[in-house]
Amino acid sequence: MAETVLVSVENGIQLLQINRADKKNALTQEMYGILADSLRAAEEDPAIRVSVITGTNDSFTSGNDIMDFIQNPVSGEDSPVIRFLQALAEIRKPLIAAVNGLAIGVGTTMLLHCDLVYASKNAVFALPFVNLALVPEAASSLLLPRMLGHQRAAELLLLGENFTADSAQQAGIVNSVVSEEDLRKTALDAAAKLAAKAPEAVRLTKSLMKGNVDDVKNAMQAEGKAFRGRLVSPEAQEAMQAFMERRAPDFSKFS
Ligand code: COA
Repeated sequence: MAETVLVSVENGIQLLQINRADKKNALTQEMYGILADSLRAAEEDPAIRVSVITGTNDSFTSGNDIMDFIQNPVSGEDSPVIRFLQALAEIRKPLIAAVNGLAIGVGTTMLLHCDLVYASKNAVFALPFVNLALVPEAASSLLLPRMLGHQRAAELLLLGENFTADSAQQAGIVNSVVSEEDLRKTALDAAAKLAAKAPEAVRLTKSLMKGNVDDVKNAMQAEGKAFRGRLVSPEAQEAMQAFMERRAPDFSKFS
């Protein structure tokens, strides 16, 4: 079986490539684990100055694997997904995203933690948590209103509709939108620039900009608690069953 996350290091740049194209790069527990471990390993490795995360073919990631939601609904504090989210909040080295296509759910929320985000013109973003009868994660319920104000964040988090790379740029989630062909080079060029800078100055600047991340971690914890409750709720069971059966969910029976 092909590796689901490809990890390589070259010239001080750690490249994390999500590689499960047949499932639109949906993230399983195993994949979150590899991403979390790789980001932590980069923190400890003096040879790595910056990480870049990207996807494969037409997908950055279509978000959490919905089968995983059904099969492993109760994710504890030490679960790979929580470890990944905590790493996003805590890492001191810069993280760059090259969003090459679908960026659904955590595919969009992880971007709120990245330092530079480049997207290809064909990238599609969405935060469909409520559509799945779930709640936001990755501290997006805190970070998005902070970035966009309540109403614009509510539009993305409550309606959960797709939005374009240009809209993501207008929202401040994306630095710039480039052609598909130029995307990886754009991200790697920025990474090379960062890798050549004084490493502690880069790390300290990132830390100073992020400030105290306790509120981010508290938001993740509160969201995680609500999320775990939602996963086993009849509303979410209906939404996920509907996804598997390729039909629209029917929430009319819930009060
Ligand atoms: N979890 C599990 N499987 C997923 C998935 C996900 N998040 N996203 C896509 N897949 C699977 C599909 O089930 C399908 O599998 P199959 O070929 O075995 O049937 C395969 O990936 C291709 O997806 P498909 O739906 O046929 O592609 P599409 O181009 O028509 O649509 C999406 C792509 C991403 C719009 C659609 O798959 C989708 O809505 N996925 C769910 C996104 C989501 O809600 N993520 C969770 C956020 S919290």
